[in-house]
Amino acid sequence: MVPTVSIRHIAEHVGQSVRLAGWLYNKRSSGKLHFLQVRDGSATIQCVVFKGNVSPEVFELADHVSQESALIVEGTVKEDARSPIGFELDVTSVELVSEAQEYPISPKEHGVDFLMNHRHLWMRSSRQHAVLRVRHQLIKAIRDYFDDNDFTLIDAPILTNNACEGTTTLFSTDYFGETAYLSQSGQLYMEPACQAFGKVYCFGPTFRAEKSKTRRHLTEFWMVEPEVAYMDLAGDMELAEDFLCFIVARVLEKCRPELTALERDISKLEAVQKPFPRISYDEATKILAEKGVEFEYGDDFGAEHETVLSENFDRPVMIHRYPAAVKAFYMKADPRDAKKALCVDVLAPEGIGEIIGGGQREDDYDALVERIKEHGLSEDDFSWYLDVRRYGSVPHAGFGLGIERTLGWICGLHHVRESIPFPRLMGRLSP
Ligand code: 4AD
Ligand code: MG
Repeated sequence: MVPTVSIRHIAEHVGQSVRLAGWLYNKRSSGKLHFLQVRDGSATIQCVVFKGNVSPEVFELADHVSQESALIVEGTVKEDARSPIGFELDVTSVELVSEAQEYPISPKEHGVDFLMNHRHLWMRSSRQHAVLRVRHQLIKAIRDYFDDNDFTLIDAPILTNNACEGTTTLFSTDYFGETAYLSQSGQLYMEPACQAFGKVYCFGPTFRAEKSKTRRHLTEFWMVEPEVAYMDLAGDMELAEDFLCFIVARVLEKCRPELTALERDISKLEAVQKPFPRISYDEATKILAEKGVEFEYGDDFGAEHETVLSENFDRPVMIHRYPAAVKAFYMKADPRDAKKALCVDVLAPEGIGEIIGGGQREDDYDALVERIKEHGLSEDDFSWYLDVRRYGSVPHAGFGLGIERTLGWICGLHHVRESIPFPRLMGRLSP
């Protein structure tokens, strides 16, 4: 019996007869030869159907079989220097499992809306497939980093009654007569958890009713959020730096074929080495002024400012100590300048902008109550969260990294919508 193998592992079967179970990606013909590009989910291989090697029925089938038909192909694995994967298959038989109807996505150019409406099929295409393979490796790298560095995974709830990142982007839903929100961040739950476990992280979907249509915003995105007890802002920046170096190096190690398929400039990723520049908000505003970019001191940076700042460096840049007024309620005030928050945003290079937001948390009970009131939030709703400051309060810090923006940067994508399998955007809830 001929073994069914995965194309990804085809190198282990050179000279052997194998069976591939997959779909027809593309084909071309020249007289006595049909070249079938067959993909099986793991990779794509060229299968060569030579008239002299197969029955007339199989040769005829190979001639008319439609794009994305399901096929089982048997043949001999041959080394081939011209092949992108280094091998091709000399076909001995083809079995049609299911004939595909006329496939809507052809090699010709399609508009983004059309492709997004066919996202469930578009993910079969080589570029989209490569991006989602990198996503898989990126997420594995993230988990390995925290698991190997003594962090405990603590899952945060999705349904909550707290607004972590401001009240303007909340999705609400009825919860047996109460209002529940979809979580914007797991941070408020990681803070008590770090007092129980020391070093923790959560990783899950987060939701923001972003009414802006930008290339950086999704309404549902995945965030990983470490939180560490007895860690200050400097420690937080070291952690972010070490973590980013690790995950980029891992993707470079595991995803060369995918990055090559995406025509990513690998040298840009290889430049992601310690130390990352650390600049204060004040220094960043000076860079903007030198570059003649319009900016009001005291404001938060917008996408256009982040683009200019991140283009200024060949590796991620960490901008710390923003004005407290533009940041979330939970941030600790800088003891040297109470108008500044002990926070950090990490901007990815090449004009990408913010991929990480984090900082040191306010650990003083009274100061935090003050901030909750200033932000118009209910002290009652945050009573449990204030317990973190009631029972053994310590300096602590953490951050959140957005998976889609990070993946978009690593893969060199223009828009975050391609970095998640089924994107949710304003105006898109399907497929
Ligand atoms: O800067 P943000 O809002 O920080 C927090 O949520 C903190 N509570 C995290 C923490 O300290 N534990 O979001 C963190 C990251 C951003 O840097 C960005 O990468 C991503 O989450 N992000 C988004 N990604 C896609 N679409 C959106 N609408 C996003 N909003 C934030
Ligand atoms: Mg932020």
